[in-house]
Amino acid sequence: MRKELVKKAVAAALKVRRHARAPYSGFMVGAAVITRSGRIFTGVNVENSSFGATVCAERVALFSAITAGRGDIVAVVVAATLDGHAVSPCGICRQTLADIDPEMRVILVNAQTGEIEKETTVAALLPDRFSFDIPNP
Ligand code: THU
Repeated sequence: MRKELVKKAVAAALKVRRHARAPYSGFMVGAAVITRSGRIFTGVNVENSSFGATVCAERVALFSAITAGRGDIVAVVVAATLDGHAVSPCGICRQTLADIDPEMRVILVNAQTGEIEKETTVAALLPDRFSFDIPNP
């Protein structure tokens, strides 16, 4: 993946984070997914008073790409800060991302510094995942 494209996705995740709807936790998250063809789709966490209805930024970005017919996602960027550090996707998001492609790159960005703190893959974050192993359409 081109360095410039990753830079663009990091900037997009940081920028969109401002739109997070997090009145309950106050924890703002921005995400961006990168498709194989180099398109970028963004998302933010959207919280709900029925807490279980809350959706994380990663899934919003992913679903946005799928809705646009671009399910061929090669990387996801997560921009947030907790205790001064970037955060890793939650368990539900890991499973959701793994269903699309376990080899997807995961790029964790510290929203305070704007720097990439860690790069990994969904497979590394979710070993022995549950899967029906159907090919992606
Ligand atoms: N959240 C995300 O959007 N992504 C993550 O990777 C971790 C958690 C959201 C869900 C909820 O709105 C808030 O952060 C606190 O859990």
